[in-house]
Amino acid sequence: MNKISRPKAAGNRSVDEITGSRRLRRMRKADWSRRLVQENHLTVDDLIWPIFIIDGESRREPIPAMPGVFRLTPDLAVKEAERAARLGIPALATFPNVDMKFRDQTGSHILEADNLINRVTRAIKDAVPEIGVITDVALDPFTTHGHDGILRDGIIVNDETVEQVAAAAVLQAAAGADIIAPSDMMDGRVGAIRDALDANGFSDVAIMSYATKFASAFYGPYREAIGTSGLLKGDKKTYYLDHANSDEAVREAEQDLAEGADMLMVKPGLPYLDIIRRLKDEFQMPTFAYQVSGEYSMIKAAAANGWIDGDKAMMESLLAFKRAGCDGILTYFAPQVAEMLKG
Ligand code: PBG
Repeated sequence: MNKISRPKAAGNRSVDEITGSRRLRRMRKADWSRRLVQENHLTVDDLIWPIFIIDGESRREPIPAMPGVFRLTPDLAVKEAERAARLGIPALATFPNVDMKFRDQTGSHILEADNLINRVTRAIKDAVPEIGVITDVALDPFTTHGHDGILRDGIIVNDETVEQVAAAAVLQAAAGADIIAPSDMMDGRVGAIRDALDANGFSDVAIMSYATKFASAFYGPYREAIGTSGLLKGDKKTYYLDHANSDEAVREAEQDLAEGADMLMVKPGLPYLDIIRRLKDEFQMPTFAYQVSGEYSMIKAAAANGWIDGDKAMMESLLAFKRAGCDGILTYFAPQVAEMLKG
């Protein structure tokens, strides 16, 4: 047998000599001391709840790729808005799954004042005026190709899309939306939306810019939820940010703020905590993350398999956003988290 003498664990010095008697574990020793030094907290005030809408009445359709999430008819969306308000969730973000007969090459149905998204806004604001409603003005739920812009000769045309998105934003504001959230990543959209809102008497409607929205694989379940996954050909790399880029993300955010954005959003969330931190440090603006569908589904799927503790992973992921500098998070977990924080 090889006779190698066992190395001394800490050489000749004691641990106190090594650390200069600094022991970081002192503050971790009990629940009370951990609570006392906890730096970041998640509260119900941090939550924005994205919900999916379908037309009809009293129907809730499960979304297979998003266990626990449903498409709701407007009447049921109102019920959920009431529940959200009771739980203290500050705001909802609505995403319509638009009937195929209303989708076309240019997404023209977004300009229908009484379309599904606007009807839901009205219904929610009528019944629960105290909850904030955030609407997305991208064209993807309205186009037959699932892109966020108008498609001409294989190109998503920027300026024409911006014009349409700005007009749609005015209709959404007229329906009662409190915050317009453009997720299409066209150049100049924030400034155009600001101008259009102001020109139509909606100067107190805010803009939450999806400032840094990355071309990402994590949107898959969402596309199933709004029925665009079967439609989308190619990818969105000509308008969403390259997920390799961080300086460019700062330039995007800077541009959107210069155009009048009131709040910034980073999307997806957890893989982009570095971007959140950079934007918060750089601009000190209200900064939000969208914990997107794929992030939600990964946690749900692993939990369903018994591989992780789903509730703990959910809470840890959300607190990570706070630590990274977020003021709030769009998350499909919102009602579940709100219940947990309450109880
Ligand atoms: C598109 C849009 C996307 C999401 C919301 N609006 C991305 C896409 O389909 O490309 C993703 C939300 C999620 O994954 O939860 N305007």
